[in-house]
Amino acid sequence: MDYQKLVELAYEAQEKAYTPYSKFQVGAALLGKSGKVYLGCNIENAAYTPTNCAERTAFFKAVSEGEKEFVAIAIVGNQQDVGPDECSFCAPCGVCRQVMMEFCDPDTFQVVLGARGQDYIVYTLRELLPLGFGPADLNMNKKVD
Ligand code: THU
Repeated sequence: MDYQKLVELAYEAQEKAYTPYSKFQVGAALLGKSGKVYLGCNIENAAYTPTNCAERTAFFKAVSEGEKEFVAIAIVGNQQDVGPDECSFCAPCGVCRQVMMEFCDPDTFQVVLGARGQDYIVYTLRELLPLGFGPADLNMNKKVD
């Protein structure tokens, strides 16, 4: 799976965003080690705090279907109805970075940011979450089923 294709899948996921409040639509495409891709969009809520980001939607779908190891995630996000030249990169929020830290090796997991009319950019999770706290810090780094 090349990353350009993963970004295209993130755009597909973005079409499902439920964003009546912010109108900021995010899509994510998460590539599991199995080769399967899980799509996620942001899902907002009238009470605001229950809102789920696109990235976490994708992770929770994957984990709930039994996949717990991941290669990369592509993310796109922009305000509804903006022109292609008004799009910029949408980096994952801190909470989503922490969820990635739970399931991904920060040195190898790739976060791919896409924006219309621009080349995608790639970061490792380590770059986005230096000194991140994860399962290894609780001595839970042994694989459990
Ligand atoms: N949002 C995401 O889905 N992912 C991000 O990385 C940043 C923010 C959503 C949450 C909310 O629905 C909207 O974007 C505005 O914050």
